[in-house]
This record gives sequence, C-alpha cells and structure tokens, in this order.
Amino acid sequence: MTLIDKIKETAQFLQARGVGQVDFGLILGSGLGELADEITNAIQIDYADIPNWGRSTVVGHAGKLVYGTLAGKQVLALQGRFHFYEGNSLEVVTFPVRVMAELKATGLIVTNAAGGVTYGPGTLMLITDHLNFTGQNPLIGQNLETYGPRFPDMSHAYDPAYQAKAHAVAQAAGIALAEGVYMGFTGPTYETPAEIRFAETIGADAVGMSTVPEVIIAVHSGLRVLGFSAITNHATGKQAELNHAEVVKVTTQIKDNFKTLVKSTLAEL
Ligand code: HPA
Repeated sequence: MTLIDKIKETAQFLQARGVGQVDFGLILGSGLGELADEITNAIQIDYADIPNWGRSTVVGHAGKLVYGTLAGKQVLALQGRFHFYEGNSLEVVTFPVRVMAELKATGLIVTNAAGGVTYGPGTLMLITDHLNFTGQNPLIGQNLETYGPRFPDMSHAYDPAYQAKAHAVAQAAGIALAEGVYMGFTGPTYETPAEIRFAETIGADAVGMSTVPEVIIAVHSGLRVLGFSAITNHATGKQAELNHAEVVKVTTQIKDNFKTLVKSTLAEL
C-alpha cells in the first residue's frame, strides 16, 4: 500500500469511528497527556485498533487517540506520540500529522518535555523555531504533491500570529511564558556536555527528542503550528545528573499551568 493509501485508509477508519471535523491536532508529550482527559463529548480510540498506526512504548505515554471538544474547538489529540528512538520509522512518527492534514485540520499544537539550555526546570517555553539536529528529515523520499511542495518554506514554521496569541493569553492568565529555539536530537541518550555547549553556541534554548519531524510534516501539509516545551531539567552539564524520573516529576509540577495555557490559547485560535 502506498503512503497516500494508508493515510486515506486511516482517515476513513477514524471517520467511521465518529471522528468528524478536526480544527486542531494536539500532540501531548511526556507527562502532559492529562489534557486529553478534559476533552468533552470524547471518542477514545486505542492506538492498537487503528490501522497503519504506531505503538507507544514510553512510560508516561498512554497510547490513545482522543477526539472531541476542547476550549470550543474540535480536537484530535494524541495521548502519547511516537519517537524515532523507539525504532519507529519517521513515516510512523509523523503519520498522525499526515492523517490530521487529511482530515483538514487548520493547525497543530505540539508539546514536549525538554531539557533547558538557557532556561531552568519548571519553565514553560513557547517554541519560536527549531534546529533539526537529527540528521534525518521525514520528507526524504517521494514528495506527496497533493499535500505539499517538494521544498517547503520553513521561514515561519511556528506560526507568528499563534505565538502572539499564546503570549497574550499567558500574560492575561498570569502564567510566565518564556520563548526560544528547540533543538531536536534523535535520543535516546541524553546529550553530552559537549553537545549542550554546542547547542548553546548555535542558539538553542531547549533540547529534546521529538517534535521536529512532526512539525516538518505539519508545515509541508500547510498546518499552522503552535509549540510548547515544558522544561523539566537543566540540560547535561548544567546540573549534577539527569534521569527520566526527574523529567516526569517536574512535568507533574508544571502541568496545571501547562494545561491552562494550552486550553486558553486554543480558545483564541
Ligand atoms: N534532553 C533531551 N530530551 C529531554 C531532556 C533533555 O535534557 N529532558 C526532557 N527531554
């Protein structure tokens, strides 16, 4: 089956399961999946039931698709994303975004847990741009002309108008919102101290192991992107040691502000 056939098959499957109009796709990162519990009139579909869909293996990622209403918008939310480091191809990692585009979503909200290069744990960071340091690109291969161009323009990958709205909403809600550049690595190792010095030198504010492939596909398909990083730790070399348990713990502490921010911004989009 071609990629286009798979996208159409999955979109039709979801429609048959009750997925209607999709205003926004929502990708919820490590520990941030709870936001999907606030979706009303929800239809939940296990990843295992969806054709052509990946499988989630990371602790803190539930592995469910939730469709319904959030902040007055129809959203299709991924509770758990697919990572390249899990052994998924980039086609699998980005497939949900392809399907969102097929379902005519206007935009994509991407979220992640990230290490802080210029910010400390507990910071919520609006993503203004990214550095693709994965050595990969999900668009390599035949271009799907009906979805987007061979050479997509990445000048405004993260929608400037959406960014302005996020800042306005944060200010009105009294939530501190930093902004900066997200640098994507493949993982699964955390970065070395030398890599973090490099990241800082070339202009990264946060580092992580996701988001970049999904955003590339979203931009290619014409989806407007809004991205948030929850900074869970100082990047390597900026604190004594690093582990996944700490990432999960800090995420738990900032998730209420995170949820408020995403919901309130979504209401304004
Ligand atoms: N590096 C990469 N990914 C991460 C980090 C980090 O320090 N923290 C959370 N996700």
